[in-house]
Amino acid sequence: MTTDTIWQLYPLPTQEVALEGLYLGHDLRRHSAQLGRPFVYTNYVTSIDGRIAIPRPEGQGMMVPKETANDRDWRLFQELAVQADVIISSGRYLRDYAEGKAQEILRVYDEPRFADLGRWRAERGLPDYPDLAIVSGSLDFPVPPFLTEGGRRVTVITPAAADAARRGKLEKEGARVVEAGRSDVTGAAAIAALGELGYRTIYMATGPRVHHLLLADNALDRLYTTVAHRLLGGQPFSSLVEGDLLRPAVGMRLNCLYFDPHALDGLGQQFVCYER
Ligand SMILES: NC(=O)c1ccc[n+]([C@@H]2O[C@H](COP(=O)([O-])OP(=O)(O)OC[C@H]3O[C@@H](n4cnc5c(N)ncnc54)[C@H](OP(=O)(O)O)[C@@H]3O)[C@@H](O)[C@H]2O)c1
Repeated sequence: MTTDTIWQLYPLPTQEVALEGLYLGHDLRRHSAQLGRPFVYTNYVTSIDGRIAIPRPEGQGMMVPKETANDRDWRLFQELAVQADVIISSGRYLRDYAEGKAQEILRVYDEPRFADLGRWRAERGLPDYPDLAIVSGSLDFPVPPFLTEGGRRVTVITPAAADAARRGKLEKEGARVVEAGRSDVTGAAAIAALGELGYRTIYMATGPRVHHLLLADNALDRLYTTVAHRLLGGQPFSSLVEGDLLRPAVGMRLNCLYFDPHALDGLGQQFVCYER
């Protein structure tokens, strides 16, 4: 076995498979046509004890810890992102971006090792970047010009109760603002709004509260997780879903399971994919 391959443990039979191209092979763009509605998926990298983020060392906000983040997971994240029509992010992302703490989500034109993924979009006649959808109640962020340059659409999804002046400011900065929910955005309304705008393959790349919105409305089709073989402990505990108890509990079936023995200096990690 070379470092280019990992073990597929499920579906059986167990077999050695290439890491590169693994999630491209899931061919996510075909699902929406089969379902006759948008297909929505997400991805988290977690520690064994289920932590997705820890406090930033400088004290403000949370970040993915360097103990779980790794190049092999990042490759698969990019393979998921590149397949989308639109990526859902949040007000938090654009605030972090404005402070220099966040970067472009799809890195395929910035990191030469992902150049094949840029070509993957071009070969399918897709625009360079998926559009961006920003979930926010506060509307308290700027829309950076680079996001709207080159024809990319930025859609801000906000509740009807959102501040009208801030909404107008974002529209002046080039965003399209749509309402989804009254006092808070709901998952069903957000996905319905994106569907009406023509989006079919929707990647949710934000944190645990937006994830909760989708789960609470049974609006998530597929959950990818990378479980990095480290335990982190610490407070606050940041898990991949945060919010009220989900009633009923959201059941997911195992779609596939891979073991990557080469990650994290040989500790390894699991790539697990669940679907509703
Ligand atoms: N390990 C991983 O794979 C992974 C993946 C994603 C994120 N993370 C980490 O998780 C941490 C938290 O992520 P996050 O802050 O992006 O996610 P989040 O907790 O889901 O919420 C982000 C923002 O979404 C908006 N929002 C959430 N629910 C809403 C609702 N019902 N109505 C309207 N707006 C709503 C709010 O924006 P406004 O404040 O603008 O209203 C909120 O600040 C971050 O540190 C991130 O690094 C880790």
